Amino acid sequence: MSGAERQRRIYRRWAPIYDPIYSRILQRAHRRLAEVAGRHGGDVLEIGVGTGLGLPYYPPACRITGIDVSHDMLARAKARAAREPLPNVVGLRVMDAHRLDFPADAFDVVTLPFVLTLVETPEAVLRECMRVVRPEGLVLVASRISRGGPLQGGVERALEPLARRCGLSTAFHLSRIERWCAAEGLARLDAVETLDPVGFFKLVALRRAPPRRAQAEPSRDPRG
Ligand SMILES: C[S@@+](CC[C@H](N)C(=O)[O-])C[C@H]1O[C@@H](n2cnc3c(N)ncnc32)[C@H](O)[C@@H]1O
Repeated sequence: MSGAERQRRIYRRWAPIYDPIYSRILQRAHRRLAEVAGRHGGDVLEIGVGTGLGLPYYPPACRITGIDVSHDMLARAKARAAREPLPNVVGLRVMDAHRLDFPADAFDVVTLPFVLTLVETPEAVLRECMRVVRPEGLVLVASRISRGGPLQGGVERALEPLARRCGLSTAFHLSRIERWCAAEGLARLDAVETLDPVGFFKLVALRRAPPRRAQAEPSRDPRG
C-alpha cells in the first residue's frame, strides 16, 4: 500500500472525530502559523489542510489554496469554507504533497500544519514546496518536532510505530530538516519557535534561496 493510500485510510477514520478532539489542542498553533503566514502572503498554499481547522485564522488579505490527500478530510474543509463562509479560500483540492500540481513560483508562502512528519518522504515534499514557493518565499512547518538528545530520542523512537498507526508522529527530529537544507541548498532555516508552553509543537520557518544570478560574462579587461 502506498504512503498516500495509508494516510487516506487512517484519515477516513479520523475525519468525523477530528474537530472535536483537535480544535482546542491545535488552536494556538493554527493561530500563530496563520499570523506569520499573513505577514508575508499573498498567495498561500496550505498542505495537508485536513478539515480546514486552521483556515479561519488567516488574515482576509491572504488568498488560500488548500490541498489534502484525504477526500474525507477535504470534504469537511469544503463544508467549513462554505458554512463560515471563508471567501479568501480560493481552492481546496485532493492532491498528494509529493506531487504538487502547481507551476513553479506560484505562492508567496507554503504552510504545512501537522503534516510534514507524516508523509512518506519529507525531503521530497520540502523540495516540492521550494519549487512552488517564489524565490525568497517562506515555507512554514508546524508539527511535533523534537530537539531532544539521545535519551529523549530513544523514547520518541520507541513510541513512533504506535503513533504512526494512528496517523501521528513522535520521532521527527529538527536535524532532519537541517540536514536537508545543508544537502540541497534550496532553502535556509530562518527561525524555530515553540508553539505551546511545554515546547511540544514547533514552528519552523524555511526561506527559499534567492534566484541564482546568471553566470557572469567573461571579462574582456586584460587585467581579468
Ligand atoms: C494531523 S492532520 C492535520 C490536518 C490540518 N493540517 C490541521 O492542522 O488540523 C494530517 C493531514 O495531512 C494529510 N496528509 C497526509 N499525508 C499527505 C500527503 N502525502 N499529501 C497531502 N496531505 C497529506 C492527512 O490526510 C490529514 O488530513
